[in-house]
Amino acid sequence: MTSATVVLGIESSCDETAAAVVRGGREVLSSVVHSQIAEHAVWGGVVPEIAGRGHLAKIAPTIQEAMAGAGIGPESLDAIAVTSRPGLLGSLLVGVTAAKALAWAWGKPLVDVHHIEAHAYAALMSLESWEFPYVTLIVSGGHTSLYRTDSPLAHELLGATIDDAAGEALDKGAAMLGLPYPGGPSIERAGADGDPRAYAFKQPMLGPDSLDFSFSGMKTALLYKLKGAGGRREDPTLPEARDLAGMAASFEHAVVETLARKCLRACERTGIPRLLVGGGVGRNRRLRARLGERAAAAGVEVAFARPEHCTDNAVMVAGLGCARFEAGLLADLDLDVAAR
Ligand code: KG4
Ligand code: ZN
Repeated sequence: MTSATVVLGIESSCDETAAAVVRGGREVLSSVVHSQIAEHAVWGGVVPEIAGRGHLAKIAPTIQEAMAGAGIGPESLDAIAVTSRPGLLGSLLVGVTAAKALAWAWGKPLVDVHHIEAHAYAALMSLESWEFPYVTLIVSGGHTSLYRTDSPLAHELLGATIDDAAGEALDKGAAMLGLPYPGGPSIERAGADGDPRAYAFKQPMLGPDSLDFSFSGMKTALLYKLKGAGGRREDPTLPEARDLAGMAASFEHAVVETLARKCLRACERTGIPRLLVGGGVGRNRRLRARLGERAAAAGVEVAFARPEHCTDNAVMVAGLGCARFEAGLLADLDLDVAAR
């Protein structure tokens, strides 16, 4: 199943500068991720201008480190793959410009990669062999979408969030609870020993047929639980809010259960008993456990991307880049970036 194609992948769509070398779309020769979390945490979220400048400082050293880690020179590369969309424009421009410069200087083909499809590829990489089609959930800070996946290159949208992404809801919820950015891991830690049923949050299913998601109501419900109806109370330390562990666990539980129920609805609706999960929120242990239980009960096989390949990384970019390269899907040196 693996080929000898060696691809350098470059990722800079949000707040991780990453480079990786992957052989045959599977074998990771090196993977370097430089996270900017510390720079953004003081602002409570990703600041686009800081992100762009952070990438500018780190992109060349990150690529150098990935090439050195793989122990190969540019002559051993078959292609250079880069995330060109979606993401922050100033951030994408840094990675794409670096990839173009190297493709030109080293005389290598350039391959453009869609960030969401790369997250799906990360989940495929966790499997020994593939049995298409799959239902794929991509759940991150920017996206919460369900797809029918017929190949690494073919994803048909089944449903998506109509407001916040799940990771965004966790990030905003954590901020309300006074927990640091990024909120997903903060809520996970804060709620680890909490009772997930301590507080009731409505799990929005958007009607019996919908495969879309909505998380903004849950966020408002958290605000009202902390600050009273209307969210106007100044002091958020209501007696019940002191049960931070219970509140964090209950909020996380509501997000996770909604995701799990929608995934299984999608499997049922499409008749596909195989589910893939990728994206940053895919690291979440409560999600992995609950979705694992629900899937097992429904006779659905579920595969998660490896935790280090859930959050942004360049292994998934090099991997999908390999599949695109082998399919002859090359980009020109005038490749543009796109926010959406
Ligand atoms: O995929 P990713 O690194 O970037 C985007 O493409 O958005 O995802 C980042 C998101 C953030 O919202 C972060 O809070 C969430 O993934 N996240 C988690 C966990 N680790 C990261 N959410 C829940 N539990 C985690 N362990
Ligand atoms: Zn991502």
